[in-house]
Amino acid sequence: MNKVLVIGSGGREHAIVEALSRSSKVDKIYCAPGNAGIASLAECVKIGVEDVDSLAKFANVNGINLTVVGPEAALAAGVVNKFNEKGLRIFGPTKEAARIESSKEFAKEIMDKCGVPTAAYRVFDEFAPAWEYVKNRPLPAVIKYDGLAAGKGVVVAMSYDEAENALKDMLLDASFGKGRVVVEDFLSGPEFSFMCIVSGEKVYPLDIAQDHKRAYDGDKGPNTGGMGAYSPVPFISDAVRAEALEKIIKPVAKGLVNEQVPFTGVLYGGLILTEDGPKVIEFNARFGDPETEVVLPRMKSDIYDLFNAAIDGNDFEIEWNPEAVLGIVMASKGYPGSYEKGAAIEGLDKVNGYVYHMGTAEKGGKILTAGGRVIMVVAKGSDIREAQSKALEETAKIDCDNLFYRKDIGKQAL
Ligand code: AMP
Ligand code: GLY
Repeated sequence: MNKVLVIGSGGREHAIVEALSRSSKVDKIYCAPGNAGIASLAECVKIGVEDVDSLAKFANVNGINLTVVGPEAALAAGVVNKFNEKGLRIFGPTKEAARIESSKEFAKEIMDKCGVPTAAYRVFDEFAPAWEYVKNRPLPAVIKYDGLAAGKGVVVAMSYDEAENALKDMLLDASFGKGRVVVEDFLSGPEFSFMCIVSGEKVYPLDIAQDHKRAYDGDKGPNTGGMGAYSPVPFISDAVRAEALEKIIKPVAKGLVNEQVPFTGVLYGGLILTEDGPKVIEFNARFGDPETEVVLPRMKSDIYDLFNAAIDGNDFEIEWNPEAVLGIVMASKGYPGSYEKGAAIEGLDKVNGYVYHMGTAEKGGKILTAGGRVIMVVAKGSDIREAQSKALEETAKIDCDNLFYRKDIGKQAL
């Protein structure tokens, strides 16, 4: 009897649980803590993602064969280290390897050592020299807080005022915590997400997706965790994908092995296709959200086998369905700033497609909004255009005054 535990409570974990539920080898799925949508596929257990002792105890007592980690917070709390200590099987990087995401400076050092293409950068701990540097350089200025900041730690400043304020926030006012800042060259081109399963030096690439980071149509408004995604990405050719694999992902996987922090898990390359080829914007040490919700539905291979192959370092060829998948995030009005929770979501049963729950709660048989990003409506089509029009049609069936969404997800591919 194979029992799997998935750690996390968002749309990404809903997609991981859904993919696992399609495996003939998985008999029972638990999710900690899960959400109202995940509850239809898995047994949700009330353990927080950073409570590593309780998670390990749960896995041990319940005879869990495989644990899959969703969010970075669990990685940073050392959940993989703890499971490894106790001899429990887990898919995800140790907290040391996960620094490829949590420390921008560490990521830049590894990239430098391995000759991986990325923006040139400088690191600062003090406001005065940072501002001196930025004000003498061309705009836009790219300023990144060095630490986990839930996607809000990056400012692409179009004016010197904005740049100065960002540096003050990050270095003087400690509004992010006492930190360091990486200032880097501005890169331009279309962005894409290349998630790869990694096991030491072995890399099993997933199909490419594209996220939409800005809150509003036309890529306007503040950066968010991601307002929609699609896969595959037609303008990223096989040649570019191969170049990204050989010049970016494989060298970094090898670099982490050389640094004595071998990586097992998802190495997510946030890449940009510049005139000089693909370059790195950032790395994540986990599945992307919302990219996972459009990539995993296309996976034909058994994901339980894939996770196990990666843990054991065995070869595995991933097979894909050729169809296009596109998803639209419905977020609480006000997000990524402050927003209200507790609004009833109607029409979920009318949707012809898949609804991933990102931030919902169930109360008295009703599904309520309970987060910034609330649900993601995902549709399939023979190409991106068809998937987009279906996703828009299905999204319109959701009735909730407190939600908004972008109507142009996928536009770069049309
Ligand atoms: P990150 O959290 O590092 O992915 O950055 C968030 C967003 O800021 C990215 O998706 C890009 O749109 C933008 N960005 C970050 N770094 C750069 C850069 N060096 N050049 C241009 N845009 C960038
Ligand atoms: N969608 C971007 C991320 O997961 O960080």
